[in-house]
Amino acid sequence: MAIRNIIRMGHPTLRQRARAVTAEELAGGTLAPLIEDMIDTLHQAGGIGLAAPQIDVPLRVAIIEIPGGRSRYGEIPPMPLSVFVNPVIEVIDPATAGYWEGCLSVPGLRGFVERPQHVRVRAQDLDGRPIELKLRGFLATVFQHEFDHLDGTLYIDRIKDRTQLVFEEEFERYVQVPP
Ligand code: NI
Repeated sequence: MAIRNIIRMGHPTLRQRARAVTAEELAGGTLAPLIEDMIDTLHQAGGIGLAAPQIDVPLRVAIIEIPGGRSRYGEIPPMPLSVFVNPVIEVIDPATAGYWEGCLSVPGLRGFVERPQHVRVRAQDLDGRPIELKLRGFLATVFQHEFDHLDGTLYIDRIKDRTQLVFEEEFERYVQVPP
């Protein structure tokens, strides 16, 4: 177990399409040490999701863990730590909603991004078992953000109105509505 360095915008790995994990890699258990490191790194950084390319491993793997409860996004359903291997996302309803997103690879900034709010996710877990989830609202946004990393896309690419890209301190001061 180890905390890995999270690479930042500008590192070329964040702009590559990550490759699929092979059936042999899954069956052989070679991913387990990577996932352990990703979990340690996510916990240390205090985020809700991490994709393998963010620690400079260009594989189609992401982890998501959402504590749930009340937040500035409203009431969020919790999601226990989950591993998604070779995920595919499909839009069920293209109607969008926007959230202020942040990213461990783009530290210090927040940006307002609109994304579809009803999606289906298909993936495999660490043991190769199929996962299928339907997600709405903020969770749909979180999954799209994480899986975008596997295609070399960052949330800043999806900001339509660039006046809506701000520093965290200014976000808290001028944008965030106090509870
Ligand atoms: Ni990110």
